[in-house]
Amino acid sequence: MIKISPSVLASDFSKLGAEAVRMQQGGADWLHLDVMDGHFVPNISFGAPIIKAIRPLVDMIFDVHLMISEPLKYIDDFVSAGADIITFHYESDSDVSEVIDKIHSFGKKAGISLKPGTPASAVFPYLDKVEMVLVMTVEPGFGGQSFMYDMMDKVSGVRNEADRLGLSLDIQVDGGINKETVAVAAKAGANVFVAGSAVFKAENAAEMIEALRQNAKTE
Ligand code: DX5
Ligand code: ZN
Repeated sequence: MIKISPSVLASDFSKLGAEAVRMQQGGADWLHLDVMDGHFVPNISFGAPIIKAIRPLVDMIFDVHLMISEPLKYIDDFVSAGADIITFHYESDSDVSEVIDKIHSFGKKAGISLKPGTPASAVFPYLDKVEMVLVMTVEPGFGGQSFMYDMMDKVSGVRNEADRLGLSLDIQVDGGINKETVAVAAKAGANVFVAGSAVFKAENAAEMIEALRQNAKTE
């Protein structure tokens, strides 16, 4: 199932609520919310109170991407804020299994993310425990960077292992996704596509979301 998840990091923060509504009206499946703590990544974005404030305005899946050093400490906050899927980094300081269990204890979906330098095999022990794997296609921290084509082997590696285990896992890619790269990532085995700049800076967000969806179709 192809999902398009616009990242509000590229939106106009002075009218975040309206930007979220614009994505829903534009046909986005999920809304991607990038949380950065200025420690795990060299940038600070926003936290749970901001997510909570826009939660009542739209009826979309809230896809929260935690780029923070200690995700375990903040799972409760993001669940209370209205997250549906919580993705944290394998490279964080928290124990991976504990974070997964904590997210699941609230009945929410868990995703585990890999920075570009981390191999696919790092998540193999957790594939049957998570609902999604996020393969970063840029170094996390900033929007507007160029897609790293050399991450496609990692996407295929995770997809092949999930297939081997008979798991229907969501594989998400995040960073530098546009009309061209979405097709490349889909071919490698991704099915959930985060796009910040491509969607928010497009003249017509709805058309861009539809174009991304069409170009992600592999057959
Ligand atoms: C990067 C974030 C991304 C970012 C993507 O650290 O995780 O979600 O917003 O932005 P674009 O699509 O502009 O590369
Ligand atoms: Zn992200």
